Amino acid sequence: MNCIIRPCMVKDCKVILQLIKEIAVDYKVPPTDVKVTLEALREDGFGARPQYDCYLAELPPGETNKEGGSIVGYVLSTYTYSAWKGRNLYMDNLYVQPQFRGRRIGKQLLEKAAQVSMAKGCCQLRMHVGNWKANEMDFLAHHGGEDLTAKECWTLFRFNEDALRRLAARSTF
Ligand SMILES: CC(C)(COP(=O)(O)OP(=O)(O)OC[C@H]1O[C@@H](n2cnc3c(N)ncnc32)[C@H](O)[C@@H]1OP(=O)(O)O)[C@@H](O)C(=O)NCCC(=O)NCCS
Repeated sequence: MNCIIRPCMVKDCKVILQLIKEIAVDYKVPPTDVKVTLEALREDGFGARPQYDCYLAELPPGETNKEGGSIVGYVLSTYTYSAWKGRNLYMDNLYVQPQFRGRRIGKQLLEKAAQVSMAKGCCQLRMHVGNWKANEMDFLAHHGGEDLTAKECWTLFRFNEDALRRLAARSTF
């Protein structure tokens, strides 16, 4: 039997935090580098001004993962705005636990994110993936995603907290 895909609820945040740490390991980032807290996930997802949407993949009754739980994947996304195109949905994480890969769970999560983005009037769905992740890049391409680095030479920049603080301190307006 297939997983069900359902919205994340506040009670699921603990498991989501665990899966966020797993995807960090998948990206060879130590789990200690994951700074988001359970409180932040609860407040930012379910507080007065929600900052993200999250959908989960839940195993059918009777099946569990090796931790004895039933949630084996998730997609977490936020809304961004393109001055050229308008509203976008940005998928920050799309993840399925390794032992459950190849069962079309990732595809169902991606389809859910696409459905949500259409329902919310977005014209694009975006995400970043490490360019050493050939399997994930092929997965995204197979489902219609375009590699913007290869196609349009876009490079991703990030201002970390130190750089951000320096810039902000220089602002005179
Ligand atoms: C990417 C990821 C979510 C895929 O999850 P999954 O559950 O194993 O994927 P699925 O079983 O749903 O994939 C099945 C579908 O994708 C296609 N697919 C899967 N891997 C593929 C690949 N390497 N190349 C081309 N197509 C692929 C299958 O053909 C199938 O599509 P179809 O029904 O049209 O035939 C999973 O590998 C993962 O969690 N990776 C680590 C996290 C990560 O890096 N995420 C960010 C990038 S997506």
